Amino acid sequence: MKKRAFIIAMCMTLALSFGAVAGCSSSDDGAASNPDAVAGTETTPRLMPAQHQKYIDRPAYKCYKCHGASEKGNPTVSTSRAMPAGHYVDNDPSSFQLDPSREECRTCHSVDPNKQMNADVLEDAEVETGQQDLDEQ
Ligand code: HEC
Ligand code: HEC
Repeated sequence: MKKRAFIIAMCMTLALSFGAVAGCSSSDDGAASNPDAVAGTETTPRLMPAQHQKYIDRPAYKCYKCHGASEKGNPTVSTSRAMPAGHYVDNDPSSFQLDPSREECRTCHSVDPNKQMNADVLEDAEVETGQQDLDEQ
């Protein structure tokens, strides 16, 4: 009861400050239906460097092999960027398992053609993760 009253109070405050009444329901807005989903930390997914275009074109490249946590570390490839804990089951990178809602990296993260990175770093990362021969496939 208390929580509900608080939510209603919050909604009224928001409605007053923005003149917006729509969207203030206390339940069922997607994240609420999945107890494991992390609410409230989402921002715009960071864009991929231009050199990542081929990873979009060729699904044989596995984002997780570089960016994901494994026995080798988090991220597996030290020059890559770690994913937020919320990308993992139970918000726990040591599970080494993606939250099901994060499996399709490409649906959220797009390429920024103007964002450049060192191609040698990427080549080394491909060798390190055994993904150096995928261009021909
Ligand atoms: C061969 C290893 C490798 C693969 C495969 C790979 N990445 Fe990366 N990724 C890197 C490295 C290395 C960087 C550079 C990190 C830096 O210097 O900012 C990077 C950068 C990024 C960035 C930018 C992070 C930032 O700080 O701006 C995003 C987002 C990203 N990758 C997502 C993806 C997604 C999604 C996929 C699959 C479609 C993918 N990567 C596949 C190694 C990889
Ligand atoms: C449902 C959309 C969604 C999916 C699917 C998704 N991401 Fe993300 N990702 C985000 C958002 C939003 C952020 C930034 C907000 C945050 O930190 O939680 C993010 C952050 C990141 C970052 C951190 C970049 C930084 O700021 O340092 C990396 C790396 C990343 N994602 C890689 C991946 C990879 C690799 C996959 C697939 C295994 C993936 N993401 C799947 C939405 C998504």
